[in-house]
Amino acid sequence: MTKVISPSGVAAYEIKDGIAWVYFTRSEKRNCMSPTLNKEMGDLLAEIEFRDDFGVLVLTGEGTSWSAGMDLKEYFREAEAKGLGAIREAQAQAYSWWRKLRWYQKPTIAMVNGWCFGGAYGPLFACDLAFAAEDAQFGLSEINWGILPGGAASKIIRELANFRNSMYHAMMGENVDGKTAAQWGLVNEAVSADRLEDRVTEVAKVLLEKNPVALKATKDAIRRVGEMTYDNAEDYLVRAQEAANYFDNMGRKEGIKQFIDDKTFKPGLGAYDKSKQPVSE
Ligand code: COA
Repeated sequence: MTKVISPSGVAAYEIKDGIAWVYFTRSEKRNCMSPTLNKEMGDLLAEIEFRDDFGVLVLTGEGTSWSAGMDLKEYFREAEAKGLGAIREAQAQAYSWWRKLRWYQKPTIAMVNGWCFGGAYGPLFACDLAFAAEDAQFGLSEINWGILPGGAASKIIRELANFRNSMYHAMMGENVDGKTAAQWGLVNEAVSADRLEDRVTEVAKVLLEKNPVALKATKDAIRRVGEMTYDNAEDYLVRAQEAANYFDNMGRKEGIKQFIDDKTFKPGLGAYDKSKQPVSE
């Protein structure tokens, strides 16, 4: 399909072979996030979330940037000039699309092609997986212009990196490249820029073979258990699987059958053949 562009031209998506490619398309402003971009990206994600013609979403940026973080002019200066109501509205618009992405129905992948600063750590963390170009640049630049890393960026760096690297990154305002970002855990892998799209496509194709109900239950579980005691996690996971059974009561039975009875696949080596799965009862 052709690219569908948001009303102001700041975001776009196209669906190809089961993958939704979502773009920041404000490259002339290095894809920094204005209130307009936040509103239109939120609308775009909501509009496509439950379509059944894609199973994986990739978020990437046009041009040299993934996203240069919050728009210092429109998100900070202009909202502040309008007063507290406008500040809170701008925050809510940004935070709400990142939250939607954190709990998105489909698996999500950040494909970090270039600059990734400050507020952009919100959507970076919201994506389940992340792959970067080796020469992409990651930075908590907030300290360089006189604020703390807000918009949850301080929380995110502590979630993803260790204490010393988080502190250095936030206090020094120095950038790290994709390779270091991978070592720190900000992304899964860094690959050369010319291989980035192929690697992300390869990963997306593997995800497309998995049971989608199990994938949604799994991605939510991995996020949720991080904040639970062991006992609470044990209990949550029992109930989360039982809830997943409500949406798909045949997947796991078919998986067991293909392994134990048909001997056509081994779970240790890949996914069962979904095309043979009877419709859920
Ligand atoms: N907010 C507002 N405008 C931004 C922006 C941001 N976060 N990032 C880039 N822009 C604008 C620039 O003002 C410039 O606008 P202009 O063409 O009207 O002058 C345009 O985007 C291009 O940016 P430029 O700085 O010329 O591009 P570059 O490729 O030389 O540098 C960056 C890229 C990302 C290093 C640089 O733009 C930058 O430092 N951006 C701010 C990063 C940041 O601190 N983000 C905030 C985190 S909360």
